[in-house]
Amino acid sequence: MKKCLPGYDNDWAFSLSPSYLMHVDRIIMGEFMRIPSEESLSDTSPLKSKYGRSATDCYTSPPTASDPYRYMLGFGNLFVSEAVPGTLPEGGRNVPQRCAFGLYSEQLNGTSFISSRQTLQHVWMYRIRPSVAHRPLQCMAANDDIEACFSPSNQCIKYTPLSYTWGPLEIPESMTRTTFLSGLKTMGGHGDPTNKEGIAIHMYAANASMENEAFCNNDGDFLIIPSEGALDIQTELGRMMVTPGEVCVIQAGIRWKVNLPRGKARGYVQEIFGSHYELPELGPLGSNGMALPRDFETPVASFDIDETKWTIIHKLTGDLFSYEQAWTPFDVVAWHGNYAPYKYELSKFVSFNSTLKEQVDPTIHTVLMARSKIPGVSLTEFAAFLPKWQTSTNTFRPPYYHRNMATEIGGLIYGQYGGSSREQVAGGLTLENSYMPHGESYEAWVKATTEPLENVLVGQDSLGFMLHISSHFSVTNFAMERHNCIRPQRAAFWDNVKGPFLDHIPAINKILQEQGLAPLGTPQ
Ligand SMILES: [Fe+2]
Repeated sequence: MKKCLPGYDNDWAFSLSPSYLMHVDRIIMGEFMRIPSEESLSDTSPLKSKYGRSATDCYTSPPTASDPYRYMLGFGNLFVSEAVPGTLPEGGRNVPQRCAFGLYSEQLNGTSFISSRQTLQHVWMYRIRPSVAHRPLQCMAANDDIEACFSPSNQCIKYTPLSYTWGPLEIPESMTRTTFLSGLKTMGGHGDPTNKEGIAIHMYAANASMENEAFCNNDGDFLIIPSEGALDIQTELGRMMVTPGEVCVIQAGIRWKVNLPRGKARGYVQEIFGSHYELPELGPLGSNGMALPRDFETPVASFDIDETKWTIIHKLTGDLFSYEQAWTPFDVVAWHGNYAPYKYELSKFVSFNSTLKEQVDPTIHTVLMARSKIPGVSLTEFAAFLPKWQTSTNTFRPPYYHRNMATEIGGLIYGQYGGSSREQVAGGLTLENSYMPHGESYEAWVKATTEPLENVLVGQDSLGFMLHISSHFSVTNFAMERHNCIRPQRAAFWDNVKGPFLDHIPAINKILQEQGLAPLGTPQ
């Protein structure tokens, strides 16, 4: 039964059940709402009645100069989107006997069937052909630069406490066609996707778009952090344009491809196994602050009608498998669910900092995190370093010297590195493994402990990030041997560090003597 509701023209007519229409009719007749009347208007009103208007559609963010696509706003919502009106089944039914216009219904579950409502993630797709319809699966030649299993028995990785700094990954010469997928290089990780617990860090450098080729990662979710070039990402659930300064998440099991509108691209990927990204708790911050849920953007449904040959590539435990099909995988006309890709512009992050004294840990800048299997312990935290005012008094303002259980992996999306202990440049990567000490140079310590503390805005033209990983972290052979820019450790870097405490021994002994205590150097 078709019926038009007020505010909808005929093209937006919905298929509605008779009982629902009865309810709507009663609302329309004014049973449940007061209809403004002309009599209630003042004589001076320019209007004939009190009617304003009602929204006729859910809000989507409009296209911009740098992004031609529309997005639905929110984090973890149950989104609903249809590219052709009337293609979603009516409410109360996900699998009708016949979908509209002969579409196929297909569900993708991103969590176990029995999950708490808080964690359940899935999406229903209404597509031109089901994704099961394809030619037989084939093993592909191994990509020696991709790793997924980080057991110490893997000869292609090594657990080492050494610190590492890498420069940007070299973008291949144009005669070597390299896509986002073929340009993916694993730097390290821990855990194993077959155990549904762990993480991998990749860098990518590409010079070609994926043509009639889609990727599906069976191992985990991708957090993509571009540092150079735009990524025009087409997914089964819609399109996203992701540029440096933005990040995006594409969950396991979703099929997608990357076009390069600027011809080349470079950046980072964090892959998580057995977990999904979520927003950190706000705690005492209250209901606002950090990454605001409204600022996450999920693509609207978008489909192609394309009956050419396509290759779909799956990654499982780091190995690649492929099959062919005679039509595009991007044929989802409508979908609803909460298992969908999204992007986020890092400049929208609402930063916090200490205002009077002391310094806060960098986790105050956490944009996204993922839970490990250990209750209360994160698998990873992704923090972004935006410009901030430093106003604290009587405080050592640089990062304090420290050793963490968590491994720290840092990157610089653009701008200048603000620290002193690294030779870091935009597009590069650093690694401080679990429990290994690190901090600023002696020169930076002298400056920070002697200079007047003015209010200063730091990091104005740069954007960095940190990945905290609650585990030891292995480094791949690629990262240790084949990366084009492995920065050597500076052997003499700490040779000049002094212990000013030792200059004060006479004064300290005087204090000890005054208190009747033995001076330093006295056998205890
Ligand atoms: Fe650190």
